[in-house]
Amino acid sequence: MARKSSGSSARKKTSGLRKTAAKKSTGRRASAPPEARAESYDHPEARIANRPDVGTQANFRKKKPAKTWSYDSSLSPALDWDGQNSARERGEALIGKILAAESLEAAKAAAEELASLSRPFLNWAGKAERLSFDVPALPLFVHERLSTEAILATLKRHEKSQQESLDLFGDPKRSITDQTLRAYEHRDPWVNRLILGDSMVVMNSLLEYEGMGGQVQMIYIDPPYGVKFGSNFQPFVRKRDVRHNDDADMTREPEMVQAYRDTWELGLHSYLTYLRDRLLVARDLLTPSGSVFVQISDENLHHVREVMDEVFGAENAIATITIVKTSAQEDLLLPSVCDYLLWYGRNIGQVKFRPVRRDKAADDAGTAEYNRVQLADGGRRKMTREEQDNWTTLPPGARAYRQDNIVSQRPPGNFPVDFEGSTYRPLSGYWKTGEIGMKRLIAERRIEKRGRMLSYVRFFDDFLVRPIANFWDDVRFSSRSEDKSYAVQTAAKVVSRAVLMTTDPGDLVLDPTCGSGTTAYIAEQWGRRWITIDTSRVPLALARQRILTATFPWYDLKESARGPAGGFIYKRKQNNRGEEVGGIVPHVTLKSIANDEPPAEEILVDRPEIDKNITRVSGPFVVEATIPTPVDYEGDGIEDSAAAPAESYGSFVDRMLEVLRRNPKLQLSANRTVGFRNIRPPAKSMSISAEAMVDAANLPGASLGDILDQPEEQRGDRLALSGKSVAIVFGPQNGAVSEKLVLNAGKEANARNYSHLFVIGFAIQPNARETIENAEALFGFGATYVAATPDILIGDLLKTMRSSQIFSVCGLPEVVIDQVEGTNNGGPSRYTVSLLGLDTFNPSTMESESIEAKDVPAWFLDTDYNEMSFHVGQAFFPRTGAWENLKRALRATHDESVWDHLNGTVSAPFEAMPDTKIAVKVIDTRGNELMVVKTIPQAISTR
Ligand SMILES: C[S@@+](CC[C@H](N)C(=O)[O-])C[C@H]1O[C@@H](n2cnc3c(N)ncnc32)[C@H](O)[C@@H]1O
Repeated sequence: MARKSSGSSARKKTSGLRKTAAKKSTGRRASAPPEARAESYDHPEARIANRPDVGTQANFRKKKPAKTWSYDSSLSPALDWDGQNSARERGEALIGKILAAESLEAAKAAAEELASLSRPFLNWAGKAERLSFDVPALPLFVHERLSTEAILATLKRHEKSQQESLDLFGDPKRSITDQTLRAYEHRDPWVNRLILGDSMVVMNSLLEYEGMGGQVQMIYIDPPYGVKFGSNFQPFVRKRDVRHNDDADMTREPEMVQAYRDTWELGLHSYLTYLRDRLLVARDLLTPSGSVFVQISDENLHHVREVMDEVFGAENAIATITIVKTSAQEDLLLPSVCDYLLWYGRNIGQVKFRPVRRDKAADDAGTAEYNRVQLADGGRRKMTREEQDNWTTLPPGARAYRQDNIVSQRPPGNFPVDFEGSTYRPLSGYWKTGEIGMKRLIAERRIEKRGRMLSYVRFFDDFLVRPIANFWDDVRFSSRSEDKSYAVQTAAKVVSRAVLMTTDPGDLVLDPTCGSGTTAYIAEQWGRRWITIDTSRVPLALARQRILTATFPWYDLKESARGPAGGFIYKRKQNNRGEEVGGIVPHVTLKSIANDEPPAEEILVDRPEIDKNITRVSGPFVVEATIPTPVDYEGDGIEDSAAAPAESYGSFVDRMLEVLRRNPKLQLSANRTVGFRNIRPPAKSMSISAEAMVDAANLPGASLGDILDQPEEQRGDRLALSGKSVAIVFGPQNGAVSEKLVLNAGKEANARNYSHLFVIGFAIQPNARETIENAEALFGFGATYVAATPDILIGDLLKTMRSSQIFSVCGLPEVVIDQVEGTNNGGPSRYTVSLLGLDTFNPSTMESESIEAKDVPAWFLDTDYNEMSFHVGQAFFPRTGAWENLKRALRATHDESVWDHLNGTVSAPFEAMPDTKIAVKVIDTRGNELMVVKTIPQAISTR
């Protein structure tokens, strides 16, 4: 097949919004599928405030002031009766209140508060001073829309355009006015959400912009475990094992991770502040019947429990759950094999609780008491020692039972009972049933003599399951069913239990510590709605891949039109051996027999009915971030962004300068870096934040001798650049780098004769990126965009990290559009997009370096880019088995070649009209997102 290719990347501006397609309406498939196909759950009853697309951010004006969060002053610490301090004054004021109280209630309330002052409390450095804190209220912008169903529909016949499957993205397609002037005023259909940002800022945004207070049913928090940071950050998407790396070019890896581990400036003190602040904000999101779980190791369990007591109230503590996470390793003293889950209710009196049960096992505690057996012929006897040790040696048809108590402390029931020729009365207490009930128990052979008393015959199979308690020893990773992609990933079973115990299908679950997305994945599995947040791009990249490529069982819905919120279907079922295998199991009790009632039935929440003909995939979800419009630091009349009032752009720049001074290195690719020295603010500058010298001595292996060993032309460039000063400009704290910022900095850098411009930001608008690409033509020297990790924004709590983690230079993806020949007879032509690689610019050599396409962790294609948000029409994870499960499930409906595309670097063919914009986004190994936009040309030249 001959292919033609477009060389041009010229772009025309179009108005942007896509044409609409019919909206998918029901909560469940319309009818039985003609062939195996992928489907997902909808949440038709749930609504969400309309958040703007990132493409509208320049026009967004709905700012809000920072929100002040206050701690209850009665909890303020440092009670010191010998010294002069606020607690003493407070105490005296309360005593006065009691003495002057007009009612008993008022006196009691004041006395209670006084008593709370003298209770022991956990104190730490900085706590007493922190009676309140400000959190910027920032809007969230939708960056990406993802839908596994849309991807599969696009690929189905190898030719469908993304346009036809648009409805599957759950995009409400709001007008620009709705998205900017009327943002957050409309209610749109629900989509699940993956959000990049600091958890506190994002949770505050959910409360302040979306009014989500009281709407979250369960919050799962798996924070960094504490002072040592316990490898909570993983710097690379594809490298999970950060501890023992023999790979030669990974030798610095453990140091990098160590740098993250040691980030908490004041150790435990900052950690506790970090956690307490977030718990306080999280609490407001919970429904009155809501629950919060915090996962923690034994190292800080006691402290975290104190902090949770303080924020949620000790009376709302429900359980401390022990999770067995590993088997015992060789250790000096006792090996630690457990983590813990602290479970608190928003209000323990109202907490939603759905018991989760597990199958009873012969080795459970308590099972030993089932030491008698009823044989197939009805005969009964004690088990032999061998039978007791191993129930499989029991004769066929035998039923284990125990002789249980038949008396209780509660009256009435002190009547004589005639049984096998003797008369019995309770030795102490009362019979558990009345006279009629007792007769029925005897008739059913449920009464037996035990010593001088009667006993109740309780069969092991009267109730084949048992409630789970607070010791979870069956939740470890099983390597076969669960691939671990993240260094600190939680086992799915742990989160699954927490979700099932405290939520119903359709409820909302939040995890502000997303990591690899275990909570979102589990919430999706069980038909719950979810929001998850992470400050780091690497885990978000892992979570996105995990959710997008996941398959789940289809649990049958009770009311299809309502989606999961109508509940799942559970049934009582037996296998051909007569064993109960359904989601409803009988519970034979003394009471049900005595009252001649059918046994009670219990629902096993984790065993709904499954339709094996349907492969379920994740519903549509979005990627959002707190990146609003750029800050107006130039003072030209455009409103400032919602940066914390306490911190102007000026002090942000000072802070960034300090970070840069302490970490004067930029990460290029792999282990290559370039360094700066003499970093300082330039005199009387309008648009430049700093100037610096490029430090040749900091180049890898770069002694002067090394440089002189280089080929002439490279040596010249390096020395040329290393001798001159360069300009640096920082983008805004809470925004993307704008075109204006780059232009102004470029002009000034030109006038001041700098040799290069480095633009450092957390995000960048596409036209600013384009200006940087064209810097040579515009300003007469090169410019480089440097991505700063959002981790810096966590604030003063973080010590400096290694520069290789803080600033990295990312280049643009190189892509080629090819026309598939013979497809333009009348209808739209078909095209493919190939990713050739990723160009990173090396400012030390002034040269581009290429990373091969097959080595990028992920790339996405939007075949009809509307410049508002990125619709992932095709998602590629080169050289991975990411799509393997779906491939197996859908082999019958999708060509083999489709899966080859999704594991490779060339897209599947798609239809497009000339002048349509396409966008390609590449996720690099640090989780950075690099995007190019191209226009399908009118005429394509042969490659
Ligand atoms: C222990 S991991 C969570 C792992 C997760 N349970 C899983 O199964 O993969 C903690 C996560 O919290 C994130 N994190 C730490 N501080 C944060 C903050 N201030 N805001 C948002 N995320 C944060 C880290 O990037 C990390 O991914």
